[in-house]
Amino acid sequence: MKRVKAIYPGSFDPPTNGHLDLIARGSKIFDELVVAVLGNPEKQPLFSVADRRKMLEAMTADFDNVTVDTFDGLMVDYAMRVGASAVLRGIRAISDYEYELQMALMNRKLQPGLETVFMMLAEKYSYLSSRLVREIAQLGGAIDCLVPPLVAQKLREKIDVAHKFSAEAERPAEAATAQRVKAPTIKASIVKPRKRKS
Ligand code: PNS
Repeated sequence: MKRVKAIYPGSFDPPTNGHLDLIARGSKIFDELVVAVLGNPEKQPLFSVADRRKMLEAMTADFDNVTVDTFDGLMVDYAMRVGASAVLRGIRAISDYEYELQMALMNRKLQPGLETVFMMLAEKYSYLSSRLVREIAQLGGAIDCLVPPLVAQKLREKIDVAHKFSAEAERPAEAATAQRVKAPTIKASIVKPRKRKS
């Protein structure tokens, strides 16, 4: 019988409970599922590709038919290299569909032998995205119900380090500001005091 190998490509910056939900669903219908982390996205990722890979490996350790890999360049070329015949993508809401359809049709144009399979995520993840998780984490909101515990921990570490760096970077500026503020105060003593408005 023909075995179907699929790839689940994405940025996974960071991986969320929604991604895990889709991996669980995909692992039930495909013989092999490769979670493929994009290595060179246009935007600057929060996590390195190695970090994202490690998190996904830990998250998927219990699935016998799921592996994690990274790729650069065209997704269809990667799919051909690893012998995949299907691409798994998740649809959370109708708003995802337009972009996903465009991408699926373009990928089909590039590689007609590769089928895109859409699966619906659990409704409870319909509002969940990596972008929102990053934003909430950076602003100190609760992320524990949005990502696996390991990812929540990594996010907290990342944000703590970022805060530490920005605090250190601000320190000389603060000192300079204090200097600038101090100077007019000294001069103020030789300037005639203004009249009160009231
Ligand atoms: O998780 P994302 O960011 O929605 O995933 C998008 C991804 C990685 C699937 C897409 O950007 C992609 O396949 N990039 C690789 C480059 C490529 O093949 N581009 C042509 C798409 S039609």
